[in-house]
Amino acid sequence: MCGIVGYVGPGKATEFLLEGLRRLEYRGYDSCGVATLSKKSGWSLVKQVGRIAGLAEKIHDSPIGGRTGVGHTRWATHGPATEPNAHPHVGGDGRLVVVHNGVIENYQKLKARLQGEGYVFRSATDTEVIAHLIDSCWNRLELDAAEAKHEIASGNGAAHDPTDLLVEAVRCALKQLRGTYGLAVMFRDYPDAIVAARLGSPLVVGVGDGEHYLASDGSPLVGYTDKIVYLADSQIAVITADALRVLHLEEGHVDHLVEKLELQAQDVELGPYPHYMLKEIFEQPESLRNGMRGRLSFEDASARFGGLNLTPQQLRGVNKIILTACGTSWHAALVGEYLIEKIARIPVEVEYASELRYRNPPVEPGTLIFAITQSGETLDTLAAMREMKRKGHPTLAICNVVGSTIAKEADGGIFLHAGPEIGVASTKAYTSQVLVLTLLALYLGRLRHLGYDEGTHILKTLERVPGYVEKALLTDSECRRIAAKYLHATNILYLGRQLNFPTALEGALKLKEISYVHAEGYPAAEMKHGPIALVDEETPSLFIMPHSAVYEKVVANVEEIKARGGPVIAVVEEGDTQIRRLADDVIEIPRVDEIVQPLVSIVPLQLLAYHIATLKNRDVDKPRNLAKSVTVE
Ligand code: M6R
Repeated sequence: MCGIVGYVGPGKATEFLLEGLRRLEYRGYDSCGVATLSKKSGWSLVKQVGRIAGLAEKIHDSPIGGRTGVGHTRWATHGPATEPNAHPHVGGDGRLVVVHNGVIENYQKLKARLQGEGYVFRSATDTEVIAHLIDSCWNRLELDAAEAKHEIASGNGAAHDPTDLLVEAVRCALKQLRGTYGLAVMFRDYPDAIVAARLGSPLVVGVGDGEHYLASDGSPLVGYTDKIVYLADSQIAVITADALRVLHLEEGHVDHLVEKLELQAQDVELGPYPHYMLKEIFEQPESLRNGMRGRLSFEDASARFGGLNLTPQQLRGVNKIILTACGTSWHAALVGEYLIEKIARIPVEVEYASELRYRNPPVEPGTLIFAITQSGETLDTLAAMREMKRKGHPTLAICNVVGSTIAKEADGGIFLHAGPEIGVASTKAYTSQVLVLTLLALYLGRLRHLGYDEGTHILKTLERVPGYVEKALLTDSECRRIAAKYLHATNILYLGRQLNFPTALEGALKLKEISYVHAEGYPAAEMKHGPIALVDEETPSLFIMPHSAVYEKVVANVEEIKARGGPVIAVVEEGDTQIRRLADDVIEIPRVDEIVQPLVSIVPLQLLAYHIATLKNRDVDKPRNLAKSVTVE
């Protein structure tokens, strides 16, 4: 949600800014803009409602110079997507510009005060308040500095870094803000520096050779530098071409750690695929292999994790698990609930993070919390995790993005190793989350009653999963044919039971988010308690029904739909002849052990959603109104 880039160095700022913004497009946005500063011609500010391509065209037609610059993609919160509301925002009479991610909760109060001081607002955003507030702080600091000069004259002064004043002006403003921010500020009179700060919204610095970069995550840095500094909350960074200085909002200097950026060019490039979503669907055999690498211990008939930071004795004492997440990650948590309860026999509760953060449920000692998140930046998940941590519960993360806020704040956890997921619709991260939860169930089970043979059987089953997924991907053309057949449906029911119920929810979510077709996921047997009223000739029902203990019962649910004239699409195991006489369309997936069915049966549902969306000419990777990581409440 929103993206920030910045550059200081000898190069042409717009080159990195535009490329960086393109790489951040996946985060979701509806307008964009850049500001550059040159010693000769001062500010250049270009904004655009809509895509980066339009912004690049404007800059191509009227090039702008400058070796220092910031850029932004905005996902509208305060005020619609218009040019005046697009960032960067100008503070004072043009002394500075600001780009900002996050939400300032007390902006109205601050705005009224600043208007009282004579500031004129040109946008409806909360961000413009920050711009004028820094300017107002600057004015006050200048007054103080005038007095200090007097002190210097009398021998009490000390030498200062020339950017100290910028830092102090930003610090003074930040202390008055309530809310979240990742921001970057440029000052007209200091064209060689950018001041950046974060609280609740990610920001990284790329360390180059005689140049520095700023970005919301590591993807814009690929190809420019592999040295990255992850800023933490309450940190302020000052970047110039040659130097990076990090300070704490309340305290002074902070030693920063330069880490190696692990992303590769192929991770952020489309390659032969028309969309990132399709690329990521097809990457699943590999992302699953990566998620298992080094984690299957045949010796112990168990899983192996490096970062749980809890001893087997401590984990043995866990008598309840809470899995908290949002969206697709919440669906993965539901699969986790079935698996952990089945394999490890530990009671599990799955909580929407947005509810958990305010619900205040009684949580007994011995409860272990897992926050599940692809991005590691989802605000509700972060808030729920912090609340649980505050109460003293061990809080772990299952996360994809290394260096993300949740990954850093958790007491420990498990990385997905799925590689960057750029399509807004989560696909490979979902299967990796389900995989990790299966491994976790095995690990916890082996700490308790689960026998060596059963553990070995699960490991052998998991080893074969990438191959099963490869086979499931062969349904692609069949999924496309079915997508074309049901293209005009305005509502689709997704039905499954037990381990296939979360798959129904996830399949329906995939369709909704990228095709804008309404879809409802339901436990198949629950359908007759209400949703069956929706069934008619125009409303297809998609059943996820590989073999299981409840297979025959699901067949009965299919009969109920057919008796009411509803078309049925059935996702079944290969060789299932029984369903062919009933269903209108059949998608066959490989026959697999029940515990890994969710990893395989989701694949045709992802493909079906993808094809319906592309046949409808939807912007699959950047669906309307959605953001990749939701960093607002
Ligand atoms: O990054 P997270 O896993 O925390 O994101 C949670 C949801 O916002 C996310 O899964 C969302 O539902 C996706 N658009 C699903 O495709």
